[in-house]
Amino acid sequence: MYKIAVLPGDGTGLEMVTEGLKVLQAAEEKFGFKMETVNYDLGGDRYLRTGEVLPESVLEELKQFDAIFLGAIGHPDVKPGILEKGLLLQLRFQLDLYVNLRPVKLFPGVSTPLKDKGPEDIDFVVVRENTEGLYAGAGGFLRKGTPQEVAVQESVNTRFGVERCLRYAFDYCRDKRQRKKLTLCGKTNVLTYAFDLWERAFHELGPEYPGIERDYAHVDAISMWMVKNPEWFDVIVTDNLFGDIITDLGAMIQGGMGIAAGGNIHPGQVSMFEPIGGSAPKYTGQGVINPLASICAGAMMLDHLGETGAAERIEKAVAGVCSSKLKSLNAGQMGYSTSEVGDLVVEAL
Ligand code: IPM
Ligand code: MN
Repeated sequence: MYKIAVLPGDGTGLEMVTEGLKVLQAAEEKFGFKMETVNYDLGGDRYLRTGEVLPESVLEELKQFDAIFLGAIGHPDVKPGILEKGLLLQLRFQLDLYVNLRPVKLFPGVSTPLKDKGPEDIDFVVVRENTEGLYAGAGGFLRKGTPQEVAVQESVNTRFGVERCLRYAFDYCRDKRQRKKLTLCGKTNVLTYAFDLWERAFHELGPEYPGIERDYAHVDAISMWMVKNPEWFDVIVTDNLFGDIITDLGAMIQGGMGIAAGGNIHPGQVSMFEPIGGSAPKYTGQGVINPLASICAGAMMLDHLGETGAAERIEKAVAGVCSSKLKSLNAGQMGYSTSEVGDLVVEAL
């Protein structure tokens, strides 16, 4: 029995988690596990109504769950930053979800903007550090609003934080991947403090993982190679901001935001799973958004909870629906409504 907190959030979040839960519930019966879900009303509407973003009591309650299933955060009537920093990043930081795991996998039949590349070329995962770097909020203003204004924003990299993220990536590469190649993505030619630490830690840990090939690429070069030679990559590990940027690029080469899912993970503790594409407010309530990202996030959640068989079967069902049913993965162009896509996955399962 798993206790799952459901946070639909904003915009199309509700439509997406509805389909994600539909598939999880179908998996429940089939694979013999049980889920108990509790809904939490957090997001832009609550903030506009009550001024609350993430009440302390809710945060404490969330710690009691096995996992959190998140829809999307971001509301057009709320100033940018309030919900992103106050809710999404707070959850990541307060729950110490130090890894953001983002698979980049092209399913058969899905079109990629990369010419001459197919499913055999695009299959890697990004392990993004999720609690430090430029996201830590270090810095500030001096003489704000004057012509002499200074704004400083510093990247925080601790040996502890870097090492636990690297270890996760090494472990993941060893336990879950065939090719066993781990690429550190950094900027050692310019960020000579932060990525010096990353690079030293990477090579110091390496000998503990003898079966894993170590590789390094600068973030600008990796952006080029993800387009030109995505088949080079197996597992990429990187800091918070670089991970944010390259995983949007990754989402595009795997067929778009309609299918891109991620997990905010602290092994052994409550972790949070989400579509990475945001709340897409313009599509709210129309039944056109692609729920596959939420369904894939559900599969990642099951994998995290140890239901690996069920997770694999959901992923296979999604792959089948992509290749045999959907015209496109883009909102409004799938040839089916949001709930019909959920039904198709259940049927395939
Ligand atoms: C993501 C998002 C968030 C991030 C935003 C909404 C704060 O872009 O999950 O990738 O920058 O991490
Ligand atoms: Mn992002």
